Amino acid sequence: MLDAKVSKLINEQINKELYSAYLYLDFSIYYEEQGLDGFANWYMIQAQEERDHAMLMLKYLQNNGVRATLDAIAKPDKEFSCLMDPLKFGFEHEQYVTSLINDIYAAAYDVKDFRSMQFLDWFVKEQCEEEKNADDMIKKMELFGNDSKGLYSLDAEYAARVYTAPSLVL
Ligand code: FEO
Repeated sequence: MLDAKVSKLINEQINKELYSAYLYLDFSIYYEEQGLDGFANWYMIQAQEERDHAMLMLKYLQNNGVRATLDAIAKPDKEFSCLMDPLKFGFEHEQYVTSLINDIYAAAYDVKDFRSMQFLDWFVKEQCEEEKNADDMIKKMELFGNDSKGLYSLDAEYAARVYTAPSLVL
C-alpha cells in the first residue's frame, strides 16, 4: 500500500500534468495563429509529453492498487503580448512543476517510501531537462528573435521536433 499522503499528491499531480498539457496546447494555438508553425509544433509535442507524464502517474497508482480520481482541468488564462511571452510563462511553469515534484519526493522520503522515490527519480531528471529546454528557448529568442531571418531559422528548428515516447516504462 502506498502512503495516503504520497498517493494523494501523485493523484493531484496527474491533474497538474494535464493542466500543463492544456497550457502548452494554448501556446501552440497562439504560435500557429502568429504563423510560426515550428513553435506551434514544439508546443504541440510538449503537450503530448505532459499527457504522458500524467499517464505514467496514473499507471503507477494503478500498479499500486490506488484508484485515481480525476478533477476538472483549469482553463489556461495567460495573455500574450509578444512572441516571447509564452516562452517565459513556460519557464516559470516548469520551475513550479519542479517544486511540485520535489514536494512529492519529500513526502515519500519522510515515510521511507523508496518505491515512490524510485518512480519519482525519472521525473526529477525530466524536470532538469524541461527547465533547460524552456531556458534555452528564451535565450535563443533573445539572441535571434528580433531578426526575421533568425526567427525563421528558429521556427524551422522547432518544426523539426518529433514526438518520442517517454523513456520510463512501468
Ligand atoms: Fe510534466 Fe513539463 O513537466
